[in-house]
Amino acid sequence: MKKYKLNSLLIVVLLMATVSCKDKMEASGETSNLNDAIEKKVSELLSKMTLEEKIGQMNQYNGFWDVTGPTPSTGDASKKYEHLKKGYVGSMLNVTGVDEVRAVQKIAVEETRLGIPLIIGFDVIHGYETLSPIPLAEAASWDLEAIKKSAQVAAKEASAAGINWTFAPMVDISRDARWGRVMEGAGEDTYLGSKIAIARVKGFQGDDLASPETIAACAKHWAGYGFAESGRDYNTVDVGTSTLNNIIFPPFKAATDAGVRTFMNSFNELNGIPATGNAFLQRDILKGKWGFTGFVVSDWGSINEMIAHGHAKNKKHAAELASNAGSDMDMESYAYVEELANLVREGLVKETLIDDAARRILRIKFELGLFDDPYKYCNKETEKRVIGSQEIQDAVLDMAKKSIVLLKNENALLPLKKEGQKIALIGALAADKTSPLGSWRLAAKDSTAVSVLEGMQDYKSNTLTYAKGADLTLGQTVFPLELIINTTDKSEFPEAIQTAKTADVVVMVLGEHGFHSGEARSRTDLGLPGVQQELLEAIYKVNKNIVLVLNNGRPLTIPWADAHIPAIVEAWQLGTKSGNAIAQVLYGDYNPSGKLPMTFPRSVGQIPIYYNYKNTGRPVIPAPNEVFWSHYTDESNTPLYPFGHGLSYTTFSYNNLLVEKISGEEVKVSVKVKNTGNVAGKEVVQLYIRDIFGSITRPVKELKGFEMVSLGPNKDVKVSFRLTKNELGFFNNEGDFVLEPGDFKVFVGGSSETVLEADFKI
Ligand code: NOJ
Repeated sequence: MKKYKLNSLLIVVLLMATVSCKDKMEASGETSNLNDAIEKKVSELLSKMTLEEKIGQMNQYNGFWDVTGPTPSTGDASKKYEHLKKGYVGSMLNVTGVDEVRAVQKIAVEETRLGIPLIIGFDVIHGYETLSPIPLAEAASWDLEAIKKSAQVAAKEASAAGINWTFAPMVDISRDARWGRVMEGAGEDTYLGSKIAIARVKGFQGDDLASPETIAACAKHWAGYGFAESGRDYNTVDVGTSTLNNIIFPPFKAATDAGVRTFMNSFNELNGIPATGNAFLQRDILKGKWGFTGFVVSDWGSINEMIAHGHAKNKKHAAELASNAGSDMDMESYAYVEELANLVREGLVKETLIDDAARRILRIKFELGLFDDPYKYCNKETEKRVIGSQEIQDAVLDMAKKSIVLLKNENALLPLKKEGQKIALIGALAADKTSPLGSWRLAAKDSTAVSVLEGMQDYKSNTLTYAKGADLTLGQTVFPLELIINTTDKSEFPEAIQTAKTADVVVMVLGEHGFHSGEARSRTDLGLPGVQQELLEAIYKVNKNIVLVLNNGRPLTIPWADAHIPAIVEAWQLGTKSGNAIAQVLYGDYNPSGKLPMTFPRSVGQIPIYYNYKNTGRPVIPAPNEVFWSHYTDESNTPLYPFGHGLSYTTFSYNNLLVEKISGEEVKVSVKVKNTGNVAGKEVVQLYIRDIFGSITRPVKELKGFEMVSLGPNKDVKVSFRLTKNELGFFNNEGDFVLEPGDFKVFVGGSSETVLEADFKI
């Protein structure tokens, strides 16, 4: 590593600048997470850098081997190498594996003038090579410790492969299951989403970013990406102040407070201004009001995309808008590296803004310890030992079991008996060893998941016969290309029907392929794709004893299945150990406790449908048959399965709801929860409030607390919650957090369709 020297006068000036910035943050009540020694080193380094080198830190290139987005229209591998050598690249993404990371790092460290190491980013969304369930499934566990652990092992495995920065967690709230990226988030609720954002940031980053087993996290996509009009990915977002402040922003704020070190902005425009060029989001809120000290990376090519949005005239203008608005790093637009120096020379971008961006990026590199040892994530022995290790396999299996939601279980069809049963297993997804890996599985090899067929084969005392029934997809299934769904070929139906006829129980694994949800995978029809619905109905004609196991990355509309099929298990895309987790749940070796983090609609026409809706002025039917109330003429307003819903092999009762006043702005709520069934089980006890009247109208219900309890048969427990200003207040349209005195309701139960309620006053 090269040594950096600085004259002492400059150190004093720069230190004063840092200190005064810290003072300002502390005075505004925001906590400073800056380290003085690091700030000093950053200042020293910055003072030695040319304008081009500082801009180089703001430039991120995709690796030369993998592509996770559209191919850039300019530039090639040789140009990237040339820029790397000149010190014009601060970061690379999609360079993976110790050998490859070491190779690019070596160029940055040994061949550039200042030897500044690269920060290496990758989409470690739910694991690296060994995969946990997709994030929406993890959210269904409501188990914050497990979610944190899942991120922790993902960081451990990714860092062993040379990576030191993940583009996760995605903390976008979404109420629209047509949007394929709901699979990557925590669902529709801000409170649950904020808790999960904190757990995932802490899991990835740990207590010490400099540890070789932790990686920097990235809260994305800032902001509003989950509110794309009509659920079509990348589409326009137009939302009001109250939704921004109360629904969209809080998980990002929670991630910031948990110390997330980077943000990614979003592809969408927000209220007329593309997020990438949005100074309100990046400068005013994030870096201003919230005092965020990390850096913001653009999304892939999103600086250039401001031209297509009709906001920037050309690439130079896009670079000007994005840098002035606070986008610190350019992912694959080539806009900063090509245009920023001239913009500074022409006075259109202030050099102090370039300094600020470079400072933020260098700061994180120091915090990661990359200046102490740029090869700290590049240990061949660690790579070999950690990737796919037993510890990681165990953790992803544990997470997979916790993520399963039992949607329906009539006549206790589940759990299956372990002996003497003839079981027919049907569906292409039942034997699929790739689809359970989900959509974000860039480093996981095809066919590395345990299939349901394999998982069930572990239970040897039953007879298991498998019949595919029909293919779900045709041709190749790959990340960047459209899926081709089988909508015609039913030639294998007869074999499946024959298999089902003689079985005691039929287990059907149906749903979406792993690449049917995720980025750019919006759908207008949320039923079972292809010929699967027909297959389900054909099998039902010969055997009604069906357990439907769903694999999917988003809520589906399955009203027919709900009306006819006795048992339905929501098994999402559960990752590497998917088949083991599903088999253990089906056979009762694991009692499911997951709860839906997103409402299941009855039909697509109900979307957006979410539990924390507003009452409207006409919430109820005025008289039988009258139309003048807020409803549909052809569908009910209610969901098929509500937010928070999930059954167990046991049952729970709720009693003794008590509200006690602690102070003027604080109440304690307690409830007795009892396991009323025959087996031990876990229950997520959920608390919701309603602020009856507000200067800004309040939702009919808002989740404000939950706790997982574990109870043996006949055992009970008292669960208590404290409701303070944080839970009872809201953001007004001036952006102030207020608690308005008045009447409240509190609701408690095992889903958002709660069983107990009480009133209180503040
Ligand atoms: C585009 C996606 O929107 C973003 O979430 C991801 O991190 C980047 N591509 C990099 O792969």
